[in-house]
Amino acid sequence: MGSHVVSNAQKPHVVCIPYPAQGHINPMLKVAKLLHAKGFHVTFVNTIYNHKRLLRSRGPNALDRLPSFQFEAIPDGLPEPEVDATQDIAALCESTTTNCLTPFKELLQQINARDDVPPVSCIVSDGAMGFTLDAAEELGVPEVLFWTPSAPGFMAYLHFYLFIEKGLSPLKDESCLTKEHLNTPIDWIPSMKNLKLKDIPTFVRTANSSDIIMLNFIVRETERSKRASAIILNTFDDLDHDILQAMQSILPPVYSIGPLHLLVNREIKEDSETGTLGANLWREETECLDWLDTKTRNSVVYVNFGSITVMTGKQLVEFAWGLAASRKEFLWVIRPDLVAGEEAVIPTEFLTETEGRRMLLSWCPQEKVLSHPAVGGFLTHNGWNSTLESISAGVPMLCWPFFAEQQTNSKFCCDEWGVGMEIGEDVRREEVEAVVRELMDGEKGKKLREKAEEWRCLAEKATEHPCGSSVVNFKTVVDILLGKKLG
Ligand code: UDX
Repeated sequence: MGSHVVSNAQKPHVVCIPYPAQGHINPMLKVAKLLHAKGFHVTFVNTIYNHKRLLRSRGPNALDRLPSFQFEAIPDGLPEPEVDATQDIAALCESTTTNCLTPFKELLQQINARDDVPPVSCIVSDGAMGFTLDAAEELGVPEVLFWTPSAPGFMAYLHFYLFIEKGLSPLKDESCLTKEHLNTPIDWIPSMKNLKLKDIPTFVRTANSSDIIMLNFIVRETERSKRASAIILNTFDDLDHDILQAMQSILPPVYSIGPLHLLVNREIKEDSETGTLGANLWREETECLDWLDTKTRNSVVYVNFGSITVMTGKQLVEFAWGLAASRKEFLWVIRPDLVAGEEAVIPTEFLTETEGRRMLLSWCPQEKVLSHPAVGGFLTHNGWNSTLESISAGVPMLCWPFFAEQQTNSKFCCDEWGVGMEIGEDVRREEVEAVVRELMDGEKGKKLREKAEEWRCLAEKATEHPCGSSVVNFKTVVDILLGKKLG
């Protein structure tokens, strides 16, 4: 359906609402762009805090370009942080659940009272914003839930209630969090094999109050997901076939529609009006692409721990000296709020020692960096977007998961998909040096790179027109949103 042939009043109108964190806004914006390309009028709803941050990082006119793609904002119910930083995830989960439904419903009413935009005809909401289902049911429109974690991570979340029933979680106190407990075999989640408790999303290791909030939140939200018209995941059938199959029997229809960035790259020109819409909450430093242009194929290690990870100053220093000792060239993104409670301080000797073979910056255009031929390996926290972007660029990984389902993603990268090597939680410079060398020059690194290349080809295939699995699934999701097909 071409948007130019459909009059405004007839146009379907989708409201897209991400959970208010970087790793959720990015993929939701991609879904929104793809729906816009299919002829939908789009309203994209951020929280006020993130809306302001986007205006700061992308310029005052960045969100106000197209009549058929509008941005709106609702309060998240939390006090606004003084400096731009990632908000506390557990507090945000509690706050959005408690405070966002009323302003969201009011926003929908305001939209429906306007005569210059079509009435809201469907909602695509983050799975972690399940309160929106009440609004969709009240309006009588279909709602598709987008769960942004990996399929294995989400499958584990769907079984959190069983961890409670089996007495594995929550823990009485910190002292119960023993090696033995973490090595408990978890062999009762359908389609997931060879897992231990330490491979399960971290919120089941509930020795602190914010994990308990997250545990209960996940149990409630996964249960609520059963009311959705359909569930979408940012993955592709070949990567997660068995898990996707197993999900079908416990949820509304589940569709894999990824890798979303590949679909977007195919369908939307980068310099078009929606192509230039971006979602980065930090200002991108694009000069790293020119730097990469001067480097040879597969020669650079790319290091980035995503938007939420925090580490100690000591861990940062161990990574720094490990990278220095590897003698490799590297591009390292150090977010201003990466080191917990303090400013990230890099030793001066390290800067002198690595002069001429490194670039340090605070935020980069990651998809472009990962698909640059000079990048030969990725030291990552295994956030799902980063992991999928790496797999679909054929780049093998060094895995240092921080929290949530990143531990599960790391396990799958290393043992199921064959594209990663782990770095111990207690990071030491000697280990960093050894694994970086192995990844870039060793036999194991070669195998991982070959496997990553195989996945890259399959990811491309999944997003090819007209028969790629994600292309076909996306069409079905469009039909569900148009009310042409029941979920
Ligand atoms: C994570 C993951 O989303 C998720 O798996 C987990 O459940 C919660 O936390 P995050 O740390 O944001 O969130 O990681 P990731 O999923 O990798 O998302 C980061 C996004 O920001 C990616 O799309 C990445 O391309 C982008 N990014 C990151 C940049 O564009 N530039 C950067 O410098 C860093």
